[in-house]
Amino acid sequence: MKFLVLVLFVTAIHAKHEIYSGWKSFFVKPVSHDQLSKLTSKIVEFDLDFVSNVAVNREGIVLVKPQYQVDFLKFLSEENISNQIHSEDLQKQFEIDDQKIEARKLVTRSVNGGRIPYDNYQTLDVIYEYIDKIAEDYPETVTLVSSSKSFEGRPLKYLKISKDKFASNKPVIFIDAGIHAREWISPPTVTYAIHKLVENVTEPDLLENFDWILFPVVNPDGYVYSFERERMWRKTRSTDQNVLSQFCPGVDGNRNFNFEWNTIGTSNNPCSDIYAGSKPFSEVESRSVGEIIDEHLDRMVLFITMHSYGSMILYPWGHNGTLSHNAFSLHTVGIDMADAINKLALPHFPNYVVGNGMLVLNYAVAGAAEDYAHYRGIPLTYTLELPGLRSGFAGFHLDPIYIHQVCIETWESFVIGARRAGELYGKTNL
Ligand SMILES: *[C@@H]1O[C@H](CO)[C@@H](O)[C@H](O)[C@H]1NC(C)=O
Ligand SMILES: *[C@@H]1O[C@H](CO)[C@@H](O)[C@H](O)[C@H]1NC(C)=O
Ligand SMILES: *[C@@H]1O[C@H](CO)[C@@H](O)[C@H](O)[C@H]1NC(C)=O
Ligand SMILES: [Zn+2]
Repeated sequence: MKFLVLVLFVTAIHAKHEIYSGWKSFFVKPVSHDQLSKLTSKIVEFDLDFVSNVAVNREGIVLVKPQYQVDFLKFLSEENISNQIHSEDLQKQFEIDDQKIEARKLVTRSVNGGRIPYDNYQTLDVIYEYIDKIAEDYPETVTLVSSSKSFEGRPLKYLKISKDKFASNKPVIFIDAGIHAREWISPPTVTYAIHKLVENVTEPDLLENFDWILFPVVNPDGYVYSFERERMWRKTRSTDQNVLSQFCPGVDGNRNFNFEWNTIGTSNNPCSDIYAGSKPFSEVESRSVGEIIDEHLDRMVLFITMHSYGSMILYPWGHNGTLSHNAFSLHTVGIDMADAINKLALPHFPNYVVGNGMLVLNYAVAGAAEDYAHYRGIPLTYTLELPGLRSGFAGFHLDPIYIHQVCIETWESFVIGARRAGELYGKTNL
């Protein structure tokens, strides 16, 4: 028995990324609305997985399984949709990506043994160690909340940061990350925001005028699974949703919110990456975000959920493309946030696109956090797709050498977003 366990263990290590053998990825760039529509209409037929979102004139990256590659390329050429190989061999690319993380660890090891959550792709342990330590070192301003547990029993940890423990009536700002497990660039932007609010304060007004809730890894089960088993894992890891969930665990946490749930852009198939779950808020991970919204509804003015990739700031209504009553503020504050990032961005990062989620992406999404939070009455709610992959850059995450840069530029958007939200809604909520 012991021998068997050992053999399985060794096999598991060697088999890392093996499930992606034969998979390829392509850059695609639709140059018209017509091409974009044709492309998005093929998502189901070719089981396309966009790891970097496309828009008109915005290059994206799509993963294609071996059995669809020939037909997919034929389709692109028939429609004259510009494309280019991104990775000939995903399995090999993931091995290279792993090596880059190790290399970054060596470069950064002089600072806290390289365990800096916003300067590499770090395991959950490193991120949790950081937020535990911040709560311990700054008890006056930081409160650690970890009252709920994930499906697999991991604590769902977030920080409340406030000058007076949320006692006064300051507007509340909420930022989360990591609801989509594989989007590894998102948690660092939130841990960096924690760093900038308590450890290296250069904008003291942000804590003077606001209370903050920062939730770096909403889906810890999926996050751990994406590190240890399947790099491209996106969903939660629940197995109680459907008889099939035993074989195909997990729900798309960002399709599980209780607004227009499972009406469009979702799947009833537990094996799908966009499975909506058995009912709204079936997932404790999404529900924990819903509970934070409930608890602070009267004061929450800005809600941002961090995703990757695409360099986009998206606002409601993502489920039907209609502009909300608050569209003018959503758009102008979104533009200010994007400008702040674009000013600092490296020349080889694309400029941010700002707009209604459905109109930019050309597909509707129901049950997403951004729509739910707005529906509940939070005036400014955004999905932020971080910058990532572009021609000339291989890899399935942005090279770890750029994480710090992404954190610095994204922080500027939080600064501007908070200040603008304060001007608009500092006194009364919508
Ligand atoms: C195909 O696309 C290229 C570049 O996008 C363009 O120059 C060319 O005119 C297109 N051809 C047709 C037949 O649409
Ligand atoms: C603090 O942040 C500022 C600007 O964000 C940066 O220039 C400075 O180097 C940081 N200081 C430390 C000690 O990290
Ligand atoms: C889209 O959804 C919003 C929010 O539920 C609603 O107010 C609006 O009327 C809808 N638009 C259409 C065309 O149904
Ligand atoms: Zn995402």
